[in-house]
Amino acid sequence: MKNYKNFCLTAGVIIILLITFLLLPSLNVKAKEEPKWCPLCGMNLKMYHQTSNRLTYSDGTKDQTCSIFCAAQLYEKRPTEIDRWEVVDYETKGWIDARKAKWLIESDIPGVMTAVSKLAFSSLEDAKKYQKKHGGKIGTFDDALNRTLSDMGSDRKMIMARVAEMAKMGKDLAGKQGCYKCHGEEGKGGSASGWNTPAFSKKMDTRVKIKEAITKGCPGMPGHDGKIDEKGLHAITLYIWSLRPMK
Ligand code: HEC
Repeated sequence: MKNYKNFCLTAGVIIILLITFLLLPSLNVKAKEEPKWCPLCGMNLKMYHQTSNRLTYSDGTKDQTCSIFCAAQLYEKRPTEIDRWEVVDYETKGWIDARKAKWLIESDIPGVMTAVSKLAFSSLEDAKKYQKKHGGKIGTFDDALNRTLSDMGSDRKMIMARVAEMAKMGKDLAGKQGCYKCHGEEGKGGSASGWNTPAFSKKMDTRVKIKEAITKGCPGMPGHDGKIDEKGLHAITLYIWSLRPMK
């Protein structure tokens, strides 16, 4: 009788363990992967966490961007569809309602994707603390968004100059990483496709897709995850992006 009880107990434990193991992978699949890169500029979202924005649209989909600069471009495309606009609190590093945040605008803390920095705080005291040290004006969400939109032209010019510099770096780095062995000198095509062809740029139509292909690899190409640092990956991606044939 005792043996039978033990058997039942052991069997029970094994069954529970089995169920847990069987369930785990499906649970993992359900826990959606955090986006790694800004869908607009392709920059690393962890590196720019402090200025990240997150938009939730009326259809339930979300976009996370490196900055209010990239978020404002999504806003321009879908102005009436943004249900929630969140931003990272510069002090606490947690997500807060961007529309209710106090925005410190034009402090001497460098801006992300913009010449004029815009930092968000849930507490007015925190905003004032940074203002005391770094200057700037404290305003509302509308102030921050309007400034972002009105500076967009000049910021774009600044970004294009920086991107061109990074792309030049990426061109050399791709050589050092051995990409040209397959993709041809300067990516003009070899045993693997050229980076300057319409077919390639049609498939690789966002910077994030290029980064995913490089890090994860694809049939015929090993993944380069961990072999290139984030800055190098960004530089190579911008170089590949710069080769897109102009329409
Ligand atoms: C061993 C050869 C080889 C090397 C080295 C290599 N690639 Fe590739 N790559 C390929 C092949 C093969 C493909 C897929 C078919 C094609 O595009 O010709 C590919 C595809 C790609 C794609 C598009 C992915 C897709 O789904 O079509 C990108 C982006 C890319 N490579 C970037 C790079 C970069 C950046 C490097 C250097 C860090 C690199 N590759 C090094 C062989 C290589």
